[in-house]
Amino acid sequence: MYNSKITGLGYYVPENVVTNDDLAKVIDTNDEWIQERTGIKERRHVVKGDGDTTTTMGVKAAKIAIERSGLDKDDIDFVVFATLSPDYYFPGPGVLVQRELGLKTVGALDVRNQCSGFIYALSVADQFIKTGMYKNVLVIGSELHSTGLDMTTRGRGVSVIFGDGAGAAVLSREEDTTKGILSTHLHSEGEHAEELSLVAPGMGRRWVTDILADDDPEDTSYYPYMNGQFVFKNAVVRFSEVIMEGLQTNKLSPDDIDMLVPHQANLRISQFIQKKFKLTDDQVFNNIMRYGNTTAASIPIALTEAWEQGKIKKGDIVVLAAFGSGFTWGSAIIKW
Ligand code: UT7
Repeated sequence: MYNSKITGLGYYVPENVVTNDDLAKVIDTNDEWIQERTGIKERRHVVKGDGDTTTTMGVKAAKIAIERSGLDKDDIDFVVFATLSPDYYFPGPGVLVQRELGLKTVGALDVRNQCSGFIYALSVADQFIKTGMYKNVLVIGSELHSTGLDMTTRGRGVSVIFGDGAGAAVLSREEDTTKGILSTHLHSEGEHAEELSLVAPGMGRRWVTDILADDDPEDTSYYPYMNGQFVFKNAVVRFSEVIMEGLQTNKLSPDDIDMLVPHQANLRISQFIQKKFKLTDDQVFNNIMRYGNTTAASIPIALTEAWEQGKIKKGDIVVLAAFGSGFTWGSAIIKW
């Protein structure tokens, strides 16, 4: 048995900054409401025609991660791609990354676990490395939300939250099993699947010919839906549970956390968790203020920034945790 460790990190966000005031020009909202309820000041949105897609952003992040890992692209044995906003309905972006990066005919897997997508993807990659099947796995989380949001007042509860961007990590074999990813913990509760969902397009709903024939302006099923307060209440409980589960598995306590990188869902959720575990500002990394919620990309973007800023050092206990649509949630405990 081996462990896996993160040997390279990278992220990419579109250049176009969209402030809360920018949104207030098209939606009945305001900077004060958004900052007070979510902590978000601005986010990035792709610009029509600039060529950024979920795949291309993921590729840009991946190139940086691979370069920083010191590996050659031909050393990558497998790709795991997490997103809720794939370029195509099928095939998923995993194979598009294989093509764009010119990787050998390695396997490419797509993960559909929304805000928990990166933790799920990391866990899958970790298992492949632990068993000895692969040595180096590229894990990507990338999202393009802005093209699919309801940018009218009707959609304001959701549309002000999400942003575009991508993050990537290279996971490599670690012979010392006291280092690297110590454990991952994954959960789901499908009972609440529709509480945070985008139900169309979905083959289970309607015949495609009916959808095409139906030009109903009131049909909101193509926009994401979120029962915000219900999601919030579940999030704080599940975040706490799954962080504790990870710590206990490794005989650690909250005091041992050097850096918690939570999925950037809402600054209020991060602050709740920080308070619950009695962590200082230096022990929790947040960047939702600048990028909004980038779902599967949020953890790898935040982890990369924390690392770039020197906030994660060798030997640190780093905890990743996420909760989101599904519901799905998870954590990863890492000894850096
Ligand atoms: O990443 C996956 C996991 N996601 C989450 O964990 C998100 C969890 N939920 C949340 O973060 C919060 O529920 C939201 C930020 C989405 C919403 O905050 P809230 O405090 O739960 O607000 P609310 O939905 O209860 O809405 C309160 C009021 C409503 O007006 P009335 O009915 O009280 O008159 C909304 O219509 O705020 C109104 N509102 C807005 N006002 C200005 C909703 N969205 C907006 C907006 N600007 N963008």
